[in-house]
Amino acid sequence: MKLKIVKGTRDLYGDDVERFQFLEDKAREVFSLYGYEEIRTPMFERTELFAHGVGQDTDIVGKEMFLLEDRRGRSMALRPEMTASVVRSIITDNHMQQATHRRFYYIGPMFRYEQPQKGRFRQFYQIGAEYFGVSTPDSDAELLLMLRQYFKKVDLNAVSFQLNTIGCQNPDCRPAFKKNLVDFLTVQKEYLCENCTRRIDTNPLRVLDCKEESCIAVTKDAPKIYEHVCEECGEHFSELRSILDDHGVVYTLNHKLVRGLDYYSRTVFEVYSDNLGAQNAAGGGGRYDSLFEVYGSPIIPALGFALGLDRLAMLIRLGEKKADGLFVIGHHRRMVNTLVSNCREAGYKTLYDPFQSSMKSQFRQANKANVSHVLILGDDELKEGIVSVKNMTTSTQTSVPIDRIIGHIESELSPER
Ligand code: HAM
Repeated sequence: MKLKIVKGTRDLYGDDVERFQFLEDKAREVFSLYGYEEIRTPMFERTELFAHGVGQDTDIVGKEMFLLEDRRGRSMALRPEMTASVVRSIITDNHMQQATHRRFYYIGPMFRYEQPQKGRFRQFYQIGAEYFGVSTPDSDAELLLMLRQYFKKVDLNAVSFQLNTIGCQNPDCRPAFKKNLVDFLTVQKEYLCENCTRRIDTNPLRVLDCKEESCIAVTKDAPKIYEHVCEECGEHFSELRSILDDHGVVYTLNHKLVRGLDYYSRTVFEVYSDNLGAQNAAGGGGRYDSLFEVYGSPIIPALGFALGLDRLAMLIRLGEKKADGLFVIGHHRRMVNTLVSNCREAGYKTLYDPFQSSMKSQFRQANKANVSHVLILGDDELKEGIVSVKNMTTSTQTSVPIDRIIGHIESELSPER
């Protein structure tokens, strides 16, 4: 049997895991300042949750879900995103019963059957945040402020925000704009790609973010949705923009930004980086005030975003690794094991060579492991009841009585507790 990893998936270890952990730790740190609590939902849900929430006509539901049948023939889907799952949890666990508003964040794998390429995987990771219960534009602004703070924290400058509003379902808002857009697109139909010719009838807004050259050329002059939304949506958007201006948040208005999921209303945004190549969206989100209604629940205003962790990891630079921990060298297995175990229990990362190779080879391993101190238990040391402690940064060596070794290390290092 020839073992192979599944296409579009990958094993993460070494530097990759360090990048992920760094990005995750900083997200927890920053998001908690804004009152977010972590939520972990199941990796799979009933397929209908995504079909109804994300939308039947979207690429995600139409062709990208990993579907499975349980033993009783019910259709399940590996989650392609988590907004629908968090909304499901709000409803099934009654999170809003005792609260006027709630904020949740999540970190975890998502699954989409897409064509793998740089920055695009079939199992990928998101860091996301969802904010429930507040409809005023300061909550939209808060999300962007939190993202700005997060990017600063992880030292990511090469990202930019794009912003749009896609209005609401009121007849004089998005539906009226859609008619307008359909008229515009119908006249230009012959220049559109095959997909978009079909989308004129099924989902005309998606024509606006088609990546085909010919469609880009057509939609350049398309009517701008942010100029055609209803009065309330227009006010929401201009208030949001003035709050962002007050806080010096830099963004670009993009009338073609409509997002690939159906649940959005009003504010939508994306985070881009030119350093990502073709898959240049590092994250995206927006408001989804009507999603609860789709599930037959009373309306709860809501908004959120998700960042692509795999893509952010491609953008950050890890600092130089500091020498860290201890390495015990010696041939007396029991003495080595005891010292290793005492050091670990005292709170120090401690390594050793389980194969007890030559002293030279053990030294080489200690060097490679980038530890700060090497504890040598050679024959001479054992005879004298001491340990030679070598500081790997200064190359100085000290002899320490074996029963005082922990105290000595403590004075040289502060334990990692
Ligand atoms: P999304 O735009 O579908 O939004 O995904 C968010 C981010 O996940 C993307 O910008 C991208 O960085 C990353 N991503 C998506 N697909 C892949 C892939 N195949 N490989 C690698 N990275 C990928 C959502 O998922 C919404 N749930 C966001 C949201 C939350 N809206 C409101 N709340």
